[in-house]
Amino acid sequence: MARQQVSGTVVRRLEPRDLATVLAIESGALPWAARWTPESYLPAPDSEMCAWVAEQGASIAGFVLARYSGGEMELLNLAVAQAARRAGAGRALVSAALAEGMARSASQAFLEVRESNSGALAFYAALGFAMAGRRPSYYQAPAEDALILSLPLPSRG
Ligand SMILES: CC(C)(COP(=O)(O)OP(=O)(O)OC[C@H]1O[C@@H](n2cnc3c(N)ncnc32)[C@H](O)[C@@H]1OP(=O)(O)O)[C@@H](O)C(=O)NCCC(=O)NCCS
Repeated sequence: MARQQVSGTVVRRLEPRDLATVLAIESGALPWAARWTPESYLPAPDSEMCAWVAEQGASIAGFVLARYSGGEMELLNLAVAQAARRAGAGRALVSAALAEGMARSASQAFLEVRESNSGALAFYAALGFAMAGRRPSYYQAPAEDALILSLPLPSRG
């Protein structure tokens, strides 16, 4: 999925010129978002990883990083800048990542989320994700369990 427009939000592949803004949004969303190395956001074209940014007007509202392997996909990181939240960027980003998963024949999407991240839990529930498990003490700083959420993806066949 190279480029997708959903009601005022344009989602496109993350490019090197976006990196500083993406890392600033990531920092501003800690500890809810994870910290990934800068290189993770610029994977090779044939990599299992893909990253996208959401543009609203002239600014980057947020980003998503996903991995596709073994017939499944995982949302590795997702954040929308505080000032841009509740305007559809998060939904548009996840939609793009899920569309790529369907194009790559993934049958399930997974992610981990801090148990106390009530905003993200409401967000993922609105997108149809359901609780699939728990990883005790998965996170540090602060220590916390991860909830595993999953979403079945429709097959293209
Ligand atoms: C979670 C996050 C990515 C959502 O991004 P967003 O752009 O604000 O989400 P959207 O505007 O696309 O929201 C879509 C729907 O999700 C639900 N939703 C989103 N945020 C919510 C919140 N804080 N509380 C309750 N419901 C919420 C709503 O149903 C919303 O639709 P509505 O605004 O029409 O009511 C954003 O809050 C964020 O960056 N949080 C910090 C980082 C984080 O938690 N990342 C996830 C780690 S697993």
